[in-house]
Amino acid sequence: MTEWIPVCRVSDIPVLGARRVARAQGLDVALFRTEADQVFALLDRCPHKGGPLSQGIVFGTSVACPLHNWTISLEHGQAAAPDEGSTPRFAVQVLGDTVCLRADELAHHATELSRPSAGPAGHAATRGCQQPCP
Ligand code: FES
Repeated sequence: MTEWIPVCRVSDIPVLGARRVARAQGLDVALFRTEADQVFALLDRCPHKGGPLSQGIVFGTSVACPLHNWTISLEHGQAAAPDEGSTPRFAVQVLGDTVCLRADELAHHATELSRPSAGPAGHAATRGCQQPCP
């Protein structure tokens, strides 16, 4: 059975913005909220040179990386052509106003990926909310 971890409320994520969720190991997960209040989660790492996607500009169901403006799909993590590459996507469950991520993905998914040493620093911790996920 899948265990879901509550990480924040939808209202904690700015509309057309992002919020980071720190993990015990691996880079942060970036949560994105669209204008239509859809929530998506990607590793906070651009497939180009590791830019922090959480600091990008959200439009539609995409985010523009703040470093070199690649467009990354929030639905798939795929870079838009002509660019190539993808960033790992995380499953999201929204229960009421509570955003939940899978415990197994938080612990193990894409933990081997790091940011280039010359790239921007990661890891500003974000506290999860205290609301239970059923
Ligand atoms: S690091 Fe994201 S576009 Fe270059």
